[in-house]
Amino acid sequence: MPRPQSTTLICASIVGVTGLSLLLKYASVKLRRGVKGSKPFTPSPPVKRSSEITRDRFTKKKVPEDIDVVIVGSGIGGLYCAALLSKAGKRCLVLEQHYVAGGCTHCFEDKGWEFDTGVHYVGRVEKYGYLLDLVSEGPKVTFEKMGGEDGTYDEIKIGDAPAHGFRAGKENFINDLVAKFPREKEAIEKYIEMVIKCNKSADLHFFGKLFHPIMEKIIDVTLGGKFQSLASRTVQDVMDELFEDEMLKAILMGQFGDYGMPPSTASFFIHAGIVSHYLDGGFYPEGGPQKIAEAIIPTIEKTGGRVLVNADVLKINVENNSTTGVTLKNGTVIKCSTVISAAGAEATSKLVGDFTTPPDLRDGISHVYLFLGLKGSAKDLDLTPSNLWALPSVNVGSDIADYYNDPGSYLSEGKMLMFIGFPSSKDPTQRDLGKSTCVVISEAKTEWFKKWDGTDHGQRGDGYKEMKKKFGDAMLKGLLKHYPQLEGKVEYMETATPLTNMYYLRREASYGLQHPPERYTIKSGIRPQSDVKGLWITGQDVTTNGFAGALMGGVLTAHGVLGYGFWDLVVGGRDLITDMGKA
Ligand SMILES: Cc1cc2nc3c(=O)[nH]c(=O)nc-3n(C[C@H](O)[C@H](O)[C@H](O)COP(=O)(O)OP(=O)(O)OC[C@H]3O[C@@H](n4cnc5c(N)ncnc54)[C@H](O)[C@@H]3O)c2cc1C
Ligand SMILES: *[C@@H]1O[C@H](CO)[C@@H](O)[C@H](O)[C@H]1NC(C)=O
Ligand SMILES: *[C@@H]1O[C@H](CO)[C@@H](O)[C@H](O)[C@H]1NC(C)=O
Ligand SMILES: *[C@@H]1O[C@H](CO)[C@@H](O)[C@H](O)[C@H]1NC(C)=O
Ligand SMILES: *[C@@H]1O[C@H](CO)[C@@H](O)[C@H](O)[C@H]1NC(C)=O
Repeated sequence: MPRPQSTTLICASIVGVTGLSLLLKYASVKLRRGVKGSKPFTPSPPVKRSSEITRDRFTKKKVPEDIDVVIVGSGIGGLYCAALLSKAGKRCLVLEQHYVAGGCTHCFEDKGWEFDTGVHYVGRVEKYGYLLDLVSEGPKVTFEKMGGEDGTYDEIKIGDAPAHGFRAGKENFINDLVAKFPREKEAIEKYIEMVIKCNKSADLHFFGKLFHPIMEKIIDVTLGGKFQSLASRTVQDVMDELFEDEMLKAILMGQFGDYGMPPSTASFFIHAGIVSHYLDGGFYPEGGPQKIAEAIIPTIEKTGGRVLVNADVLKINVENNSTTGVTLKNGTVIKCSTVISAAGAEATSKLVGDFTTPPDLRDGISHVYLFLGLKGSAKDLDLTPSNLWALPSVNVGSDIADYYNDPGSYLSEGKMLMFIGFPSSKDPTQRDLGKSTCVVISEAKTEWFKKWDGTDHGQRGDGYKEMKKKFGDAMLKGLLKHYPQLEGKVEYMETATPLTNMYYLRREASYGLQHPPERYTIKSGIRPQSDVKGLWITGQDVTTNGFAGALMGGVLTAHGVLGYGFWDLVVGGRDLITDMGKA
């Protein structure tokens, strides 16, 4: 880990900062009033229109006057950031290229079947539910706990071994593993401790991205030292140090699909973040994840802002190192001196030449999807409300490598890595309709589909259809191995590929940037403020992937745009969320 040459410099800064902080903490308590950088919140009458809230199509006439901020992309990162800024009185225009707002929270309906696409469970709803409520002017989102009484959120199935269930609660997590692997008791306890420690110390690292780059580094190597020492290791490295039993390691690595990077190259932090996120249980938004977008959009509209779809941003305009607005694909220019890109870092580098992502962070893995409509309710079909992660064998790392080298035998035997979830059994509004839905997801290389890159959505030809069928059949075969009772129950079947991601999200990589240790160490993470004046980045790529990660990306960037920095966060002990909660 690179360190500034002089430790004296660090010590001096710390002493200085601590002294000042005591002084200023006192002053800031005296002076604190409301949200920083906020304008009076002047609610406008709700926008009258017949179309649905998430499908407000772009026309030039709908672009409000006096926009304070343009946000490119309407995923949870963009929407949450826009909602916070709106609450602070800023008028925001969110532009989305897809015909529905919401990014990965999108759900689709086809022939009477409804599926989620990019959010299948979330954790820590006491925190994220609160954060959503804080900015929801639309109907509030309620979350249903997965797994009923027992609270099993994920089941991990390694090869043909019986599944291991992760039940809600740290004690359950530990006890259930110790019962199976008594000789590893101490290591299991130590592991959970490391997971929690790594997760807890992450906040400072992320908020450090708002500070001057030198201060960011100083904080990272001093107060953030513990986080750095864990985040700079790989998952595999930590596993090998702690555990003897390969089956135990494989079970613990079983959720790696949630971040989609092999344990041998992924930072221990992203793993710790995911494990601790779900440790107290998995939850599902009632009515599907699209309810999240529906709750937030009215907040943006209330300050006179708008969330417009079919608005494909072609360019973020820059003059003299300052952003001047955006140009849409059809030539419409929208002027604004603050632009936030919530489209992802790699996508942003295509929109603006002055922004590049570090080479070691390039976009990560993609997926193939199988959407199934099933005859019979969850009860009839004996479907659990927990997810199943199926891994081919205990050799997690080499299985992934082999699969990517030559997926053939994995596909023909239906034994590739699979995520299996049943939205209808997680969502109380869908549970008793006499039918069920199932989503199966496997990893895929974008190269496998490159051949059809230039073709149009829905008209990619027979070769593409065959390729889709090959993956769809393989996933169905895999599903039936784990749920033989579903044989003959399939009434609807659709598959999707990395090209589908590209069409709906403008990137193939499901989770955006990869998660090597470099991303979370002081070397090369993405900062919310770009080098172009007035251009900010938000969403999953400034924090971590996942609903919670992307939302926190929105929180981070909103802090930056409103002028919260080192003096407020570290010295003054104030932050936007607390200020807003008080307002
Ligand atoms: C298959 C899959 C499964 C997942 N499962 C889970 C899960 O179970 N739990 C969980 O917490 N997370 C899950 N995630 C991750 C989570 O959904 C994402 O990390 C998160 O939603 C990303 O939010 P975001 O706002 O950063 O980006 P996105 O939601 O991707 O939003 C980016 C938006 O920008 C738009 N855009 C891009 N370019 C342009 C342009 N030029 N002009 C206009 N608009 C543009 C895109 O159309 C898109 O709507 C999953 C993701 C995938 C893909
Ligand atoms: C671009 O498309 C929008 C929506 O269809 C329209 O309102 C606008 O006038 C178009 N602009 C140009 C320059 O064609
Ligand atoms: C992980 O860190 C976040 C942020 O500090 C915190 O809210 C959460 O409670 C932590 N999770 C665990 C399991 O400690
Ligand atoms: C950019 O700089 C040039 C020359 O200094 C100046 O004429 C122009 O107005 C500037 N543009 C903006 C948008 O500030
Ligand atoms: C923009 O900034 C870069 C470095 O920050 C500088 O090299 C360049 O000259 C600047 N360009 C303009 C037009 O000011």
